Amino acid sequence: MIASPPSFAARIIAWQREHGRHDLPWQRTRDAYRIWLSEVMLQQTQVATVLPYYLRFVDAFPTVATLAAAPLERVLTLWSGLGYYRRAHHLHAAAKTVVARHGGRFPTDSAALETLPGVGRSTAAAIAAFASDEQGAILDGNVKRVIARHRGIDGWPGDARVQATLWRAADALVAKASIDIAAYTQGMMDVGATLCTRTPRCDACPVADDCIARLEARIDALPAPRPRKELPRRSVTVLLLQRGDDILLEQRPPVGVWSGLWSLPELDCAADPRRYVCTRFNTVANDVRSLSPMKHAFTHFVLTMHPVAMTIPDVRSVFEEPQVGWFTRDAAIAAALPSPIRRLLRAYT
Ligand code: ADE
Repeated sequence: MIASPPSFAARIIAWQREHGRHDLPWQRTRDAYRIWLSEVMLQQTQVATVLPYYLRFVDAFPTVATLAAAPLERVLTLWSGLGYYRRAHHLHAAAKTVVARHGGRFPTDSAALETLPGVGRSTAAAIAAFASDEQGAILDGNVKRVIARHRGIDGWPGDARVQATLWRAADALVAKASIDIAAYTQGMMDVGATLCTRTPRCDACPVADDCIARLEARIDALPAPRPRKELPRRSVTVLLLQRGDDILLEQRPPVGVWSGLWSLPELDCAADPRRYVCTRFNTVANDVRSLSPMKHAFTHFVLTMHPVAMTIPDVRSVFEEPQVGWFTRDAAIAAALPSPIRRLLRAYT
């Protein structure tokens, strides 16, 4: 008979025992209060950052009762620098709840833990696993990455349906016989934090053999990133000022988009282009024409340029501005222009 290969959980547990983290101050304790404190601090925050905060907290508040009795200001002061301050407010509220509802005995089952402020399904399962060996799956940000890759789950994990699929997969991986759930939970966290990263170390990964993302060369694509949000839109009028065959360009200021490049004069869409030209260049505008708009997508917004062409007479005042000049069409197109402006000049001149 051929022995079946070790299960996913068995490989994670064996790896954790040999290579995982064992000496963190919240490990080797069954005190659910301390485990909860560490797990809340570790939400969105790395171990190295959390360590000194955790030690100061347990020193200042050795029990949940001391934390509940402390003024909120003191909790916030000790939290200061750890970020995501809502967590500190939740922490204090949860401590009061444990005192009021459980007589100061910190719950160790996930159902009770999940009712506490700031404790979601994954954090509740982690605390219950570490404090009382409750069999259950976790699904924090790092673990989502491990499972999305290993099970080949498409879609952005922030999407509710993708998240539900990930939870089903996470549950299925621990649903077998009772396992060393504390080692498994820590192992999943450690694999996610140290191996299955943006540039993963598949050579060292205990579950690489049957990782769908690796087998299908989709590691870079999983988990799928957040879909691109609709970008904000901006509209401006750009002026195609022509004098005979020449075109007026102006140099952009040294800061902001297109800094230092030559471009077309730009004004608010609500402004009257003819009046703008009269005021700024002290000249009259003739043959004013609105041309079809052109779009350009920046990383953070979409710019719609509404070109307005006009001819202006040869007036000296234009040259009194050092950042403004007349260019032949060829010279303009060859100048240091933003590419959408070059596209616009090619299309309209
Ligand atoms: N991230 C969240 N919980 C953790 C833990 N117990 N150890 C290491 N990293 C974590």
